[in-house]
Amino acid sequence: MQTQQELFTLTGKIAVVTGGGRGLGRIAAEALLRAGARVLVASRKKADCVATADALAGLGDIEGLEGDVSTQAGVSALVAQIRQRTPVVDILLNNAGATWGASLESFPWDAWSKVMSVNVTGAFTLTRDLLPELSARASLADPSRVINVGSILGTAPIPDDSYSYGASKAALHHVTRVLAGELAPRHITVNAIAPGPFESKMTAFALGKTDVKDSIAASIPLKRIGEPDDIAGALLFLASRAGRYVTGSIMPLDGGLSIDARSKLLTTHL
Ligand SMILES: NC(=O)c1ccc[n+]([C@@H]2O[C@H](COP(=O)([O-])OP(=O)(O)OC[C@H]3O[C@@H](n4cnc5c(N)ncnc54)[C@H](OP(=O)(O)O)[C@@H]3O)[C@@H](O)[C@H]2O)c1
Repeated sequence: MQTQQELFTLTGKIAVVTGGGRGLGRIAAEALLRAGARVLVASRKKADCVATADALAGLGDIEGLEGDVSTQAGVSALVAQIRQRTPVVDILLNNAGATWGASLESFPWDAWSKVMSVNVTGAFTLTRDLLPELSARASLADPSRVINVGSILGTAPIPDDSYSYGASKAALHHVTRVLAGELAPRHITVNAIAPGPFESKMTAFALGKTDVKDSIAASIPLKRIGEPDDIAGALLFLASRAGRYVTGSIMPLDGGLSIDARSKLLTTHL
């Protein structure tokens, strides 16, 4: 058996993180760096990614790139930049995400194409186009990893004014399982993390208010909002030797929300 350090180290690995300039992607980039990986972070706002790379440079080798995954041209441009830097990608974290909130009656047509193009088409297409790099070092003993950032809203049918977002994350979970089956013989694992509420720009409209945040935390079975170590722990498991036999999983990272842990269903009505 390997030591704890050997199981979880990412020394020598090369990782790409989309949406890595802020939020969960930045947390992920830091976790990958701390575990020893070289990290490329990309999003539409190159300045954010460069600033994050500058801030984390003391932890290891990290670079910020421009990369819009909502179009084929954007994905191709990102892949070209990655190819200029490395012939190998061991870990691809499809974290870039967009959402849209509106009531059922006012939910606009555009809110579907915008959200689906980033959350589903972008993740699928970047994975497809990086297959040569993901295959370069993939082996039976040490598969390469694709990790998609899904959501509890892709697992549980909660409307939450984000109809296209939930549907996009359910689609991403499905794509995760489809690609896991297809890429397993090529020694590439494909898994998803399905977070519940974490603080970020995307959730600031609710979690940015202390009373709302406390109320949301109280509604979660484990009684708190997600924290950076929760992202890091799940990611490092899936990205390292520790998780090499896991593929096609949708890992709940939601404090128990997805099991809707009511202590009573029938007896509470007696
Ligand atoms: N926070 C939560 O509670 C929560 C829960 C479940 C799942 N998630 C998922 O976690 C992921 C990260 O979200 P977050 O919470 O950290 O929100 P966030 O702070 O809004 O981050 C979203 C990231 O995606 C990038 N992005 C958006 N559109 C893009 C595009 N077309 N191409 C490339 N990058 C793009 C953004 O950078 P640019 O604006 O520079 O492009 C940003 O870095 C998303 O997939 C989200 O759905 C979050």
